[in-house]
Amino acid sequence: MFRINFVMDIFNICTVLIMFCCLTEFIVAERRIPSTVEGPFKPVTHRFDPSLRRGSDDLPMNHSRLTKKVPSIFPEQIALAISSPTSMLVSWITGDAQIGPNVTPLDPSTVASEVWYGKESGMYHFIQRGVSTVYSQLYPFEGLLNYTSGIIHHVKLEGLEPSKRYYYKCGDSTLSAMSKEHVFETVPLPSPHMFPKRIAVVGDLGLTSNTTTTIDHMIENDPAMILMVGDLSYANQYLTTGGKGAPCFSCAFPDAPIRETYQPRWDGWGRFMEPLTARVPMMVIEGNHEIEPQAGGITFKSYTERFSVPSEESGSNSSFYYSFNAGGIHFLMLGAYVDYNSTGI
Ligand SMILES: *[C@@H]1O[C@H](CO)[C@@H](O)[C@H](O)[C@H]1NC(C)=O
Ligand SMILES: *[C@@H]1O[C@H](CO)[C@@H](O)[C@H](O)[C@H]1NC(C)=O
Ligand SMILES: *[C@@H]1O[C@H](CO)[C@@H](O)[C@H](O)[C@H]1NC(C)=O
Ligand SMILES: *[C@@H]1O[C@H](CO)[C@@H](O)[C@H](O)[C@H]1NC(C)=O
Ligand SMILES: *[C@@H]1O[C@H](CO)[C@@H](O)[C@H](O)[C@H]1NC(C)=O
Repeated sequence: MFRINFVMDIFNICTVLIMFCCLTEFIVAERRIPSTVEGPFKPVTHRFDPSLRRGSDDLPMNHSRLTKKVPSIFPEQIALAISSPTSMLVSWITGDAQIGPNVTPLDPSTVASEVWYGKESGMYHFIQRGVSTVYSQLYPFEGLLNYTSGIIHHVKLEGLEPSKRYYYKCGDSTLSAMSKEHVFETVPLPSPHMFPKRIAVVGDLGLTSNTTTTIDHMIENDPAMILMVGDLSYANQYLTTGGKGAPCFSCAFPDAPIRETYQPRWDGWGRFMEPLTARVPMMVIEGNHEIEPQAGGITFKSYTERFSVPSEESGSNSSFYYSFNAGGIHFLMLGAYVDYNSTGI
C-alpha cells in the first residue's frame, strides 16, 4: 500500500509540495522509468524555499490564464478524474456564472452533457451522456455578493481499456457546442508490475504568481495523474484577507455573520488548470479553504458540485473520502471534514 500523510496548513501561507515519483538520473542512464518495486531509491528532495512564506501576488481576474476563452455555451474548465482503470470521469462548465444582487440560477437542463470519444484522433465511436447541475453561494447580509455558477457537467466514460490513449470532445452536439479535441490515457490495471509513471502531489495551491510556477513545472514534467490534496483555489481569501492592498473584510463588514468567499476565483482556477486537467486526471480532496460557509449553514458547495470523485465506485457515501486503484497502487483519499463511517455524513 502507498500511503501519504499530509499536514495541511494552519497558516495562511502558500506552501507547495510537489513530489514526482520518478528518478530522472535513472531515465537518463537506463532510458526507462523504473517502477517502485525496483526500489527503494534514494529520494530526491528540494530544500523549502523560504521566499514562499512571504506569500505571493494573486493573479488578477483579467489575467489571460483566468479569463473565459470560449463563447457562453461552449465547454470550459474541462477536468478529468480517475474512476477506475476502465472508466474516466469528465467534468466541465458551460454558461455564465453571475455575481451580485438578484442572481438567477441557470437551468441545467438547457445544455446537454455529452462526451464523444474513441481511440483514434477525430474518430469518436462512442458517446456517453451524463448529468448537470448549478450551485449558488448566498450571503444573508447586505453588501456581500451572491453568486450562482455556470452549468456544471459530469460524465462517466465506462468500458475503456486500461493503459490506453483516448481522444475526446465534450459539450452539447445539438447546440453545435463541442469542445476541441483532448486526449487522456487510462491508468494501468492493478498489478504488482504496472504503475502510473509519474504522480504529482500538490496541495495549498492558490491562484498566485507562485501557482503559475508550480503548474508550469508540473506541465513540464508530464505527470500521469495529480493528487490535489486540499486548499485548491483560495477563493475564500481573495480580496478579503487584508494586507497586500486588499480591503480588510472585517473592517468593511464588522457585523457580517460569515465571510464572503469570492466564487469567480473558482472559475478562474478551473480555466487556469484546464491545460493540465483536460489531459491528466486530477484527484481532489477537500481542505479547510473549501469549507466556504454560506447562508443556511451550507458548506463545501463549490468542492462538492464542481468536482467528480469516485465515491460510488469505492463504496463511500461522500466525496470527502474515497479510494481508487492505478496499477499496483491503491490510493486512499481521506479528507478531514467527515466521519469515515458507513453513512459518511
Ligand atoms: C513567489 O512570488 C513572489 C511574487 O509574487 C516572488 O517574489 C517570489 O520570487 C516567488 N517565489 C518563487 C519560488 O517563485
Ligand atoms: C487588468 O486590470 C487592471 C486594473 O483595471 C489593468 O491595469 C490591467 O492593464 C488589466 N490587465 C489586462 C491583461 O487586461
Ligand atoms: C443573497 O441571498 C440571500 C439568501 O437568499 C438573501 O437573503 C440576500 O438578500 C441576497 N443578497 C442580495 C444582495 O441579493
Ligand atoms: C449517501 O446516502 C444517501 C442515503 O442513502 C443518498 O441519498 C446520497 O445520495 C448518498 N451520497 C453519496 C455522495 O453517495
Ligand atoms: C456516522 O457518524 C455520524 C456523525 O458522527 C453519526 O451521526 C452517524 O450516526 C454515524 N453512522 C453510523 C452508521 O455509525
